[in-house]
Amino acid sequence: MSQYKPDPDKSVNLTIDGVPVTVPEGTRILEAARKANVRIPTLCDHPGLCKRGVCRLCVVECDGRGKLLAACANDVWEGVNIVTNNLRILSIRKMIIELLLANHPQECLSCIRSKNCELQTLAAHFCITASPFRHDAADRRPPVTESDTLVRDMGKCVKCGRCVEACQEVQTIRSINSGYRSIHYGISAPYNQALAEGPCVFCGQCAAVCPVGAIYGYDQSAEAWMALNDTERHVVIQIAPSLSAAFNNALGLPAGTVSPGVLVSALKRLGFDRVFNSETSVNAAMAQENGELLNRIKEKSKLPMISACSAGGIKFIEDSFPDFAGHLSPCNSPQQMLRTLIKTADSAPITVVSVSACIAQKFKYRRSGENSPDCHDANLTLTVDELVQMFKQGGVDVSGLPETAFDVLPGEAPAEYKTNFTNLGDIQKGIQESEINLHGTKVKMLTVYGFVNVRTIMDSIRGGECDASLVRIMSCPRTDSQQACKNSGRTIQNL
Ligand code: SF4
Ligand code: SF4
Ligand code: FES
Repeated sequence: MSQYKPDPDKSVNLTIDGVPVTVPEGTRILEAARKANVRIPTLCDHPGLCKRGVCRLCVVECDGRGKLLAACANDVWEGVNIVTNNLRILSIRKMIIELLLANHPQECLSCIRSKNCELQTLAAHFCITASPFRHDAADRRPPVTESDTLVRDMGKCVKCGRCVEACQEVQTIRSINSGYRSIHYGISAPYNQALAEGPCVFCGQCAAVCPVGAIYGYDQSAEAWMALNDTERHVVIQIAPSLSAAFNNALGLPAGTVSPGVLVSALKRLGFDRVFNSETSVNAAMAQENGELLNRIKEKSKLPMISACSAGGIKFIEDSFPDFAGHLSPCNSPQQMLRTLIKTADSAPITVVSVSACIAQKFKYRRSGENSPDCHDANLTLTVDELVQMFKQGGVDVSGLPETAFDVLPGEAPAEYKTNFTNLGDIQKGIQESEINLHGTKVKMLTVYGFVNVRTIMDSIRGGECDASLVRIMSCPRTDSQQACKNSGRTIQNL
């Protein structure tokens, strides 16, 4: 039997709700409909994932046949006449949403995804204020916080399977899967264990694609408030000046209202003792890493050195490539580096708060062989949205504040830490090659986005085919990391 292989150079003519459309062969009905300005509602579909056709919300009628087709999972064909919104289709969609709501906790008011939930939006679009079906979500399991990084609230899961694909196929980690049968069907980790017990690297990609409040980043702002109210404790925060644009977006203010200087003032109003530009610690961490790399090059040992943007990358190498654990950079992360730099000047207990667009930064991981962390110290990571909530809770009106300069550490000279960096381009999607100049020694660095690409590079290192001296692991697949940054860590795709 010959396999269907669409030819994108071939055009297909069809009509959608009476509108003639021409699209390349292999176009899904959903995409063809968008070309005709018809928005078909979806729930399980996601632009970064494969076709799946699970929720059936996108069903359409083709050539008047009785059988409805999922628009997200079927391609158009020549001459087809598609109807997307007759009474039969609308009532089926409405019933699907009502059934989902009957099995969903009725707590939109307190849900983290309220006003940004795809199920809530669908219910509003279909004017559904109550489900006619018996409400059946009373005995749900309570939400579980995983390693202070993710919250899994499976009672809210609509079983779309997006998270499973993000974990299994996009990241190739295989930490979660669908399990059980019939009414017990759901998403879980093997043996219902905590995610940290398995291969999970806390990349947050499952949360990034979840359409509802079933998986989301753990909000560390309560800990931040506790630290700010502890008069014995020194609480500092570091933030990248470039994030000020994200604050303008999150606060709904015109571009440029929240400058880095205004942000410093607002953070001081919240009670932070000192506010640092995160470039300080990033440059210091890079200087330490460069020194370690130069030593390894001199000694021709443990190359390429492997460093990771988040602790998940370190866990991945220790879990999946333990024979290369010695290649991991032993250097401090920027957060640990800031603590070290502050420690030299102040011996009070310190909380270092970082602001990041990425949930993965919340994950802390104790490397094998590492000592217990100092219980007096704590590192916290807040997303832009969490910090905006803190401004609101603390009554800080950001818009009218004057500019204040970042605090500087004694003897701080960030410029000399800077490394010359030449981008040589992409080897393949998700692997970028660069040359870095370490005080006259030029070395090759690979920046690898997403764990599927990290596996490829680790295999090439094992096979002796990798000539890079430094490999940087970025947890997010490239496109998703950009999307994650845009959405400031809440990473919600409004389709
Ligand atoms: S955080 Fe990443 S590795 Fe862990 S379950 Fe989610 S997608 Fe998988
Ligand atoms: S947890 Fe979220 S993404 Fe995963 S199946 Fe449930 S609703 Fe879909
Ligand atoms: S079946 Fe098409 S969006 Fe779910």
